Amino acid sequence: MKILVTGAQGQLGKEIARRGSEHEFILAGRDMLDITQESDVQILFRQAKPEVVIHCAAYTNVDGAEADPDGAFKVNVIGSQNMAAACLETGARLIYVSTDYVFDGAANKPYREFDPVNPQSVYGTTKWQGEELVRQILGRHYILRTAWLYGDGNNFVRTMLRLADEQPFLKVVHDQIGSPTSTVDLARAIFKLLQSDAYGTYHATCQGQCSWYDFAKEIFQQAGKNVDVCPITTAEFPRPAKRPAHSVLDNYMLRMTVGDPMRMWQEALQDYLALNKVN
Ligand SMILES: NC(=O)c1ccc[n+]([C@@H]2O[C@H](COP(=O)([O-])OP(=O)(O)OC[C@H]3O[C@@H](n4cnc5c(N)ncnc54)[C@H](OP(=O)(O)O)[C@@H]3O)[C@@H](O)[C@H]2O)c1
Repeated sequence: MKILVTGAQGQLGKEIARRGSEHEFILAGRDMLDITQESDVQILFRQAKPEVVIHCAAYTNVDGAEADPDGAFKVNVIGSQNMAAACLETGARLIYVSTDYVFDGAANKPYREFDPVNPQSVYGTTKWQGEELVRQILGRHYILRTAWLYGDGNNFVRTMLRLADEQPFLKVVHDQIGSPTSTVDLARAIFKLLQSDAYGTYHATCQGQCSWYDFAKEIFQQAGKNVDVCPITTAEFPRPAKRPAHSVLDNYMLRMTVGDPMRMWQEALQDYLALNKVN
């Protein structure tokens, strides 16, 4: 398969690129392709003729987006519109990666793909609007909602490990519940779906759930770090963007179609820490 990867220098983009021997990749970081520039997108598609686009580029600064809604809209909505339109013109299939932040987090059970959305932040809203444009423009799409993603880049695991080396005592939020997800597992789900024509919307997170506090404790335990972690509430750690309190996703559509390849979050974390040689 000839695959164009947008946002190729981001966490997920780098993980997709690691599967280079199996496919022909066009790895488009922001320096090669600014997805907000419609004519640049069209030129690249006409030259490269991808069969599949794995669209990883996004405005992912959740708090920054609150002060820069137009910037987030341009990347997450207009950029995604450009990708879907170019796919329509050239016959390519599109993977659009979305987020648990499309939900408000008020549910007390895991969200399924057809549950009503109600984003609470600029980031969540623009990712939802990007989803909607992809659905409207292109039939041959797969929308994958993931959450609490970590891989090769800035993420919660790396932040916790860095802070553990700087401070003996940390405060971490315990009243937001989600599913930490490794880019390795998400990439696995993406390539599994690409082998099928099962187009549509999917949830793709690692199995199990925890709070950020539980996640931090597990990171330190697995990495052999001796840190005192104190649970605090979201109200005690105010951020510009509102986060969903309970955004656990049920990978229902994966189970019903190609099968759910995602591991338990603790197992995926173990692999990540071993590969990143932190313990
Ligand atoms: N990280 C999470 O916890 C999380 C959770 C749920 C869903 N997701 C979704 O998963 C996907 C991958 O996330 P990630 O963690 O890999 O994100 P990431 O590491 O922040 O990577 C995103 C990439 O997109 C690039 N980008 C931004 N604006 C662009 C533009 N106009 N044109 C081209 N590239 C542009 C960024 O480049 P610069 O670095 O130069 O800005 C960056 O390399 C995204 O769709 C995200 O919304 C992420």
